[in-house]
Parts: sequence; C-alpha cells; structure tokens
Amino acid sequence: MADRLVAWLHDTPVVVVVVLPGPVFRIHLEWRPEGIERWGLGSPVLSVGLPIGSPTGPRDTRGLDFFENMLPEGPILARMAALAGTRPADTYGILQAFGRDCAGAVMLLPDGEQPGADGGGYTPMTPGDLRRVISALDVAPLGAAPERGFRPSLAGFQRKALLGRAADGTWQLPYRDAPSTWILKPDGPHPMAADEATCLRLAAACGLAVPEAELLDVAGLPLLAVRRYDRHDPADGDLPVRVHQEDGCQATATPPGLKYEEQGGPALRDLAGLLRNFGEPRGVTSLLRRTTFNMAVGNADAHAKNFSVLHDRDSPAIRLAPLYDVLSTIALDLTDSTGQPIRADTHLGQRVGRQADIRKVTAASLIDEAAAWGIRRRAASAIVAETLDQILTAIPATPGDERVLTAVRKQAERIRDN
Ligand SMILES: Nc1ncnc2c1ncn2[C@@H]1O[C@H](COP(=O)(O)OP(=O)(O)OP(=O)(O)O)[C@@H](O)[C@H]1O
Ligand SMILES: [Mg+2]
Repeated sequence: MADRLVAWLHDTPVVVVVVLPGPVFRIHLEWRPEGIERWGLGSPVLSVGLPIGSPTGPRDTRGLDFFENMLPEGPILARMAALAGTRPADTYGILQAFGRDCAGAVMLLPDGEQPGADGGGYTPMTPGDLRRVISALDVAPLGAAPERGFRPSLAGFQRKALLGRAADGTWQLPYRDAPSTWILKPDGPHPMAADEATCLRLAAACGLAVPEAELLDVAGLPLLAVRRYDRHDPADGDLPVRVHQEDGCQATATPPGLKYEEQGGPALRDLAGLLRNFGEPRGVTSLLRRTTFNMAVGNADAHAKNFSVLHDRDSPAIRLAPLYDVLSTIALDLTDSTGQPIRADTHLGQRVGRQADIRKVTAASLIDEAAAWGIRRRAASAIVAETLDQILTAIPATPGDERVLTAVRKQAERIRDN
C-alpha cells in the first residue's frame, strides 16, 4: 500500500497527500514543483480555497477539507470505507482505493503512477448489465469495479451509478482510467427522479444552464440520468477529457460536515463573493437567477455542495457550473418507515434575505439577498420578476410530474405576489 497519493490535475502532478502518523486520521500536503511551475504559487486553478503552495501546517485542515469534500456521505461512504478496509473518517484510505475518477479533473494515484498509463476505455452494456449495476449499488457504490480499474468517488448522499455512454446512447462500463461521463441516480426510499427531471426541464425552459438529462425506467425503478458537465467529448477517437470543478465547500475551504449555513457553512453571500472575485460579473446575476429558481420550485436543499464552479485549464478564472441536484423538496411525497406521510423539511440549506424557511421566502427576500451581494435593488428586482415569469410561463408547456408542477406553480405565484 502506497503511503503517498499524488493528486494530478489535468496531466500535471500538483500535490502529494501524505498520511501523518497518529491515532486520528490526518494528512499533510506537499506541493509538487511541476504544478508550481505550470500554474504558479498562489494559483486557484485546483481550488480557490486551497491555492497552489498554500502553507499546510499540522493544524491547517484545508488540505483535508478539500479532499474530504470529494467523498460521498452516509451509507455510501461507509460501504466504500469497508471495501477499502478502513473507517469512514479515513479520507486518505478511501481516496487511495477510490480516487481515480473524481469530480472535476483531479485524479489521485499512488506515487510513481501516471494517469492513463494503462489506457482505458468503455465496454458496451446490455439492459441486463444496467439492471445489475443499479441493483448492486449498495454493494458496489457508484458502480465501482476495482477489478477493471474503475475506482470512482463522487460527493452526495444519494445512490448513484457512474457510467460511460456511446454516441448512439448505449450505456457503457468504464475501465481503467476512462472517465465516467454520466451520473445515474435511481429513486431511493423517496421518489425523487421524476421530481428532479421536471425541475431540470423547467430550468432549461427558463434559459438556465442545465446538463442534458433523461428520466429512465430500469426494471420498474425510476432513475434520473444526467450527463457530466465536467467531461468533454474529445475531438477525435480519444477518451473524453476531464474538466475541473470544485464545489462551494471546497472553494470556501469548508469541511463537508458544514455544508449547511446554519452549521456554520457558506452562505449565498459567500458563493456570490467567489463569483465576483474569481469569475465574471455575469456570474453573480446567474446566481441570482438560480436562487430565484430554487426558491420558486421549492428546493430547500440548495446547500454549498449543490453549487459548483468550473475552472479553466490554464487561467485562474472560474465560472458557475450548470445546475444540478435541483428538486422541489416541498413537493416530495414523503413517508416514514411505517408508511405514514411526513412533511418535507422546509428549512433552507442557505438563508435567502435572512429568511430560513422556504415557505416564507418572498420576492423581497430575494432582492434583499441580492443587495447583500452588491447587486442594485432595481436590477435585482427585474431579474427576480423575469425569472418568476419565465417559470410560470414554462409550467403549462413543460411535460413532467403533475404534483411537482402544481406545487411549483403555487410556490412561484406566492413568491411573486408577496
Ligand atoms: N451533471 C453533473 N456533472 C458533473 N458533476 C455533477 C453533475 N451532477 C452532480 N455532479 C457532482 O456530483 C455531486 C453529487 O451530485 P448530487 O448533488 O446530484 O448528489 P446527491 O447525492 O443528490 O446530493 P445530496 O447529498 O445533496 O442529496 C455534486 O456535488 C457534483 O460535484
Ligand atoms: Mg447534492
């Protein structure tokens, strides 16, 4: 077992993750000269929250935070830890086993290995193969298959399969260092796929940037498939290329356990600040449109890990990533373990204009929030009104889950009229 893992960004080794001895799981970072030479000391190209060459003293947890944010949560993390022969708190041990295909362009490899040195590719799947991968997600999370060299990690609580896809739509199993290009999220105990698919269609109709998505049925199980926006098709017959992204926790050097604002995690204002300082001015307006959309569809779960930024390969600029994990949580049909209906949590992952309950957010809350980011109130008011209009206009023309569309219409009208 290697005790040094090298984080590669694009084709450059950027930082070495080293385990510190001791009873708690701690890591230490050693910046590689190749990364410093390519991007320069202080470059945010890996992470705005962890600039290249940042001091990483024993008490500095930024390195650990960045890498811990690349792992899933809950039972998926527990299963990956078990497969890696370690505990969920051992970020290093889990990434050593499952860090080769991550969010963005980072690959974690044992010291001495080169990314893609053994090639890689995709094997076409039959419908039976797809059913098997989906039904085995509790055992092989994310569709991980170390026997074919596919060792992926991706954040989030929900079960997912990471796959490739041929131009004709055939699903594929990635092997060795071929990147996964689609994320498949099956319904869990609560039906979510149709809800998320409906919200994504509405978002697309409102002109928001969304990944291509499809609602599938795999042996009676509804499943949302989204194309990865952090992968680009190659010009020729090569493998797809990884595009770098980081989430709102990574970009603000926040551990994943603090993803909700009320736990001390990033506020919307912090994310707006990132876009203002490292992106283009348009990014802040896009964030306001998106926040208006989240409130109008009734998505209370928009926390800092449901927001990502994309990085350019060679410049320090960042851009707001397309929308993901957007669902009308207020429309969820929830039941407890005995089948009794329960009310969805209306508590916001991030406050909007100091409002912490999605049922109480109004257009004025959105304008207050935007004003706190530095947007003029009049401009904010126009953006909020326009986005609400777009949503209400799109609803009758959007095919989707009627329950969700009705809940969204009521919520959007309430926000507009209050
Ligand atoms: N279309 C996409 N392209 C690239 N990366 C994506 C895409 N969708 C999601 N991701 C990445 O995968 C991670 C998990 O996705 P998502 O938020 O949908 O999962 P989840 O399990 O539903 O999350 P949560 O724990 O918030 O419920 C995101 O944080 C993001 O980094
Ligand atoms: Mg999420």
